[in-house]
Amino acid sequence: MTSEWDTEELLEGDEKVEAVRHMFDAIAPKYDRLNRIISFRLDVRWRKRAVRDLALPAGSRVLDLASGTGDLCIDLARVGVRPISMDLSFGMLSADRSGAPRVQTDILRLPVPDASIDGVTCGFALRNLADLPTFFDEIGRVVRPGGRIALLDVSVPRNPVIRWGNSIYFGHVVPRIGALLSDGAAYRYLPKSVAYLPSPETMVADLRSAGFTDVVHSQLSGGLTQLMVATRSSPVDRD
Ligand SMILES: C[S@@+](CC[C@H](N)C(=O)[O-])C[C@H]1O[C@@H](n2cnc3c(N)ncnc32)[C@H](O)[C@@H]1O
Repeated sequence: MTSEWDTEELLEGDEKVEAVRHMFDAIAPKYDRLNRIISFRLDVRWRKRAVRDLALPAGSRVLDLASGTGDLCIDLARVGVRPISMDLSFGMLSADRSGAPRVQTDILRLPVPDASIDGVTCGFALRNLADLPTFFDEIGRVVRPGGRIALLDVSVPRNPVIRWGNSIYFGHVVPRIGALLSDGAAYRYLPKSVAYLPSPETMVADLRSAGFTDVVHSQLSGGLTQLMVATRSSPVDRD
């Protein structure tokens, strides 16, 4: 089966948003199973690390943006944080069994007042967004001063051997597993989508420009995944 992703060129703007929505609507029913298989369950560990490093007290109100099937919402609720699940794809939200309130929205335009939220998490979606600096500005708008963010996404390992193994696995093995168990086009998009991500240095600089301080970028599992955590600065920090 071919799809809008079966092209060498990377889609942009509204075309990308619509293609992402269709893709996740299509793979939603099998998304969790495929995630566990292709990551050897490392994805579970990465989300737990993100929640730990978010380091917000119980009772905090956190938006899980691009929440998908709600895995991060489940981990947030386990530590007593109150998550709200927000995603573009109705299919993914329908598969969300976290019990968190669910909102269908484009996370580049959050239906939330300024400085009204204690924290934001976002798992494995940065590369799917049409405009990453706009997303950073938007979370800078809604998170209160002193609030925290934790953003996860895939990464390109720095070690050349791990990078080579990773490119063979995601370039050749994962698309075959995807075709067998879910949607081949979606899992062919996965390795290509990494090209959308700016360098860690650029993302850290963009987060600082969006009003975040103490920005920490970490490579997890040898650089298979990256995690960025930061604190929303207060007006005093910015003086
Ligand atoms: C790879 S899934 C990650 C889901 C979940 N966060 C996780 O950790 O498994 C990416 C999610 O991003 C969502 N997404 C992509 N672009 C979006 C946008 N502009 N607004 C809201 N959600 C978006 C997709 O619908 C999909 O559910």
